[in-house]
Amino acid sequence: MIRALRGETLERPPFWLMRQAGRYLPEYRELRKNTKNFLDFCYSPDLAVEVTLQPLRRFHMDAAILFSDILVIPDALGQKVEFLEGEGPVLDPVRSLEDIKKLNPDGIADYLTPVFEILNRLSREIPDETALIGFAGSPWTIAVYMVEGRGGTDHGKVLGWAENDPEDFQVLIDLLVEATSAYLIRQIESGAEIIQLFDSWAGVLNADQFHRWSVEPTRRIVERLHDRCPGVPVIGFPRNVGQLAADYVSKTGVDGVSLDQYIPLDWIAETLQPICTVQGNLDNTVLVAGGQELVRATVNILKSLSSGPFIFNLGHGVLPETSPDHVARVAELVRGWPRGGDGPSPSDGNN
Ligand code: CP3
Repeated sequence: MIRALRGETLERPPFWLMRQAGRYLPEYRELRKNTKNFLDFCYSPDLAVEVTLQPLRRFHMDAAILFSDILVIPDALGQKVEFLEGEGPVLDPVRSLEDIKKLNPDGIADYLTPVFEILNRLSREIPDETALIGFAGSPWTIAVYMVEGRGGTDHGKVLGWAENDPEDFQVLIDLLVEATSAYLIRQIESGAEIIQLFDSWAGVLNADQFHRWSVEPTRRIVERLHDRCPGVPVIGFPRNVGQLAADYVSKTGVDGVSLDQYIPLDWIAETLQPICTVQGNLDNTVLVAGGQELVRATVNILKSLSSGPFIFNLGHGVLPETSPDHVARVAELVRGWPRGGDGPSPSDGNN
């Protein structure tokens, strides 16, 4: 995976899946049911190390991703963060300069010590040929949760603040650029070999807003990481931004770009792959459906993107209702590529 991120075209692309650890695995649900509070689960090194390794045992991905969550940053800053069952994250919203002043950026490294221990242990436990990915949310996506106080589909309050009072909102973004950079540098010092920045809500911004609130803060973080940790590649995931992904790549300096399922494969191959390693972009609902369509979609992606620097992944995370058998089928197709990947097997039921 690291070679792919340095721009090499590999005969068989490396693969991993966003949210490869999680509720679609019975062994995850089994461990998870004993801890009520999801953040406590994330901060327990024994549990987090174990659930990071679970998907690797079954599917032999080329990378392990730290088991944690992007919302540990607001939690470490002192904002109240809870995960309610069936509802997702709920936070005490930050809506003013006064609220920002109550946050404590100096405390995050101490508070997040368990995360660094998890990475330390993982870097000793995973096989040498498996890469270890650390991650964080981008400042914009974290700000969406911090300001809205929810993980749903509403963005009115955060967009209103950014539009009506950009100077104050910039204070929050700047604080997040600093906190996220420091956090990621510590992740790398603890064993992370690749960093992914999740900008899950980049797609709600118009082109001007996207440049100010997503591209520019990301560029500053990437610059900081490249400066302090040369050789550690950074993947950006600007979700649902369409053709603005090309600007994102050229302006942020990321080494890889993770793409959602709405971006056409021929455009990716023609426009993005010549300038950047690309990652993606199987539709996670096709992974839920399985069958012939899953084989067709997987092979189509492999055919379209394997002749340049490429990492196979989904367009967004594995959904909880996904059958592990479908993940196994995809893993088999990718690992068998180019031999044996081209075409359905008798077990796919197309007779
Ligand atoms: O396997 C992995 O990918 C590593 C772990 C990981 C989690 N969250 C675990 C998790 C990673 C990389 C994330 C990133 C994350 N978290 C993002 C960015 C990627 C994306 O999906 O867009 C976002 C937006 C979040 C915030 C978040 N965390 C939400 C909105 C929710 C609730 C919705 C949901 O899917 O449950 C979570 C909870 C969460 N994070 C779970 C897991 C395994 C489920 C919690 C549980 O087990 O009860």
